Amino acid sequence: MITTIKKYSFGAHAPTGAVTAQVEEGDTLPYFSAQSEGRGTRFRCPLEKDDIVYGLGETMRGIDKRGGRYVSFNTDNPHHKQDMPSLYGSHNFIVVDGKKTFGAFFDTPARAVFEIDYGGSGEVNVLCERGVTVYIVEGESAHAVVRRFLRAVGRSYLPPLWAFGFGQSRWGYKDERDIRRIARGYAKAGMPLDYICMDIDYMDRYIDFTVNKKRFPDLKAFVSEMKGKGVRLVPIVDAGIKVEPGDPVYEEGVQKGYFCKNIEGKDFCAAVWPGMTHFPDFLRPEVRAWFGRQYKVYTDAGIEGFWNDMNEPAIFYSEYTKGKTGERSEGDPLYRGNTFLSDYRNFCHNIEGKEVNHWEVHNIFGANMTRASAEGLDALLGGRYLLFSRSSYIGAHRYGGIWTGDNSSCWDHLRQNVRQMPSLNMCGFLYSGADTGGFGGNASRELLLRWLAFSAFTPLFRDHASKGTRPQECFRFRGKKDFRSILSLRYRLLPYIYSEFMKAALSFDMYMQPLAFGYPQDSRARRVEDELLVGGSLLIAPVLEKGAKGRLVYLPEAMTEVRWDGASFRTRQAAAGEHFVKVPLGEVVFYIRKGKLLPVGGAAMHTGECDLSAVTLLGDGEEYEQYLDDGLTRSVSEGNIRLLRRLG
Ligand code: GLC
Repeated sequence: MITTIKKYSFGAHAPTGAVTAQVEEGDTLPYFSAQSEGRGTRFRCPLEKDDIVYGLGETMRGIDKRGGRYVSFNTDNPHHKQDMPSLYGSHNFIVVDGKKTFGAFFDTPARAVFEIDYGGSGEVNVLCERGVTVYIVEGESAHAVVRRFLRAVGRSYLPPLWAFGFGQSRWGYKDERDIRRIARGYAKAGMPLDYICMDIDYMDRYIDFTVNKKRFPDLKAFVSEMKGKGVRLVPIVDAGIKVEPGDPVYEEGVQKGYFCKNIEGKDFCAAVWPGMTHFPDFLRPEVRAWFGRQYKVYTDAGIEGFWNDMNEPAIFYSEYTKGKTGERSEGDPLYRGNTFLSDYRNFCHNIEGKEVNHWEVHNIFGANMTRASAEGLDALLGGRYLLFSRSSYIGAHRYGGIWTGDNSSCWDHLRQNVRQMPSLNMCGFLYSGADTGGFGGNASRELLLRWLAFSAFTPLFRDHASKGTRPQECFRFRGKKDFRSILSLRYRLLPYIYSEFMKAALSFDMYMQPLAFGYPQDSRARRVEDELLVGGSLLIAPVLEKGAKGRLVYLPEAMTEVRWDGASFRTRQAAAGEHFVKVPLGEVVFYIRKGKLLPVGGAAMHTGECDLSAVTLLGDGEEYEQYLDDGLTRSVSEGNIRLLRRLG
């Protein structure tokens, strides 16, 4: 029983599965006033002027969430503007850090609205529209609160080592030839690569669990050919099953009653990429087990990695909203992103024999798809696998990672990526990352290089772009040396990145943190939103501006500056305080914290060539605890740590 966390119930709700620890019921909710409103409850907590409010995972705006309005209602919306209230996931955990420091998790599968000092209200105002269980987490610092919360929601998903390699993706690769060309392009340019994602065009007419035979005549042989080159294939799986009489998955789903029902009790029809689809009722254990088993067609072919998509669920239109597309506009109250919100009232789930309208449980749909896949893959594969999803809810972090959806090739979204990473980590999602270079729009060489230089530190490191945008693979650009430099840095850092990720996951900690968590007494560090701590040893300060020759870096203490120029690491001592640091494109500058060490490995063209145990130590520390294993086994333990000592 965890005593530093207490829970308080305000009305019933379907179980979300977010909290796995035993938590005691508290008597009276502290910090917040609570008032019923409609079928839900409104919570209010006054803020002090200097309080910082952390959390909310995948949302827009800053690391400090003050000044914003955030709506937890999973939405497929590619317009990631600063004031966009909803993205693909709902992560209802906040930490108030100031005179009082505490965390609050609003565990509800339904819609919730967070107004954090919105319009200068001076309060946290949370409306949970249905039943909610509020968890209050106590701790002596924001970091301590987060660590307790992470323990309560259970250990992060553990990816295999190869999932920390670099991945290339693009919506539009359609056949073996396209994929071979990408692998060849990287190999010829001397750039490392671990996996290539297969977007929806690998399927037969976008039907899940099929492979287009013309484009991939022998998937198994192709997977093994690519693996021989060190490149794994990672197919996409969408949430909806195409209405396709004769397709065995569709037929079985209909026959066994596994799909969500419309308001008239028939299988609900919603249009996504394949045209009309049915949605598996992922909230039912037997449906999850059935869906998870379907991955066998891919695992039998030797595939060990997947990305789950369209699982908010995205609905282009439904049997109810078909023909209403003319009404689609930003101003339409019904239409958000790609979806008519009203459709979320048009279908139902069956939870323990009871019919529940989707609206009531909307935010846990995608999370349960991830769970279905993970449980299926656990049964199908002997070792770890790569799995990341677009939609999520806290708890899904135990089953897979997430990527942050359809961003664009713009500097603002690179900055957003930097701010989102620590917030995602606070909510459990350690294995995450953005579409590097941006999904929509055309990436410039400069933007892609700067973005790669940041993503080289994020656990999920994938370049992905939309159909119709300019080619975004690194080898397509002039001046390949700069790209080679940054990609090779990632592989040189893998002994550290892998070790820090695994240590964070095993000890319920974050992998990427705001500076404030490392230097809570430093009032300036508390406000820094464009530098991050990565693991226990590193501080990074990515260049986030177009045309910049470098940037101002704030160091809370003296550190070892490391400059990677593509060939070697050059170190020098940097004093505490502010510095302008020159960072040419193709170089990366980062810092090793005082008294810490960084193990760096040798060059590699893919993770299969990495020897994580052959490292050189940089920095002025004495010891480094390195987590080491074969990168695949599921039997992980803190016992896999070896102590490295600096000689002399
Ligand atoms: C969605 C995904 C994107 C993918 C596309 C086609 O927009 O977010 O990553 O490329 O669908 O499958």
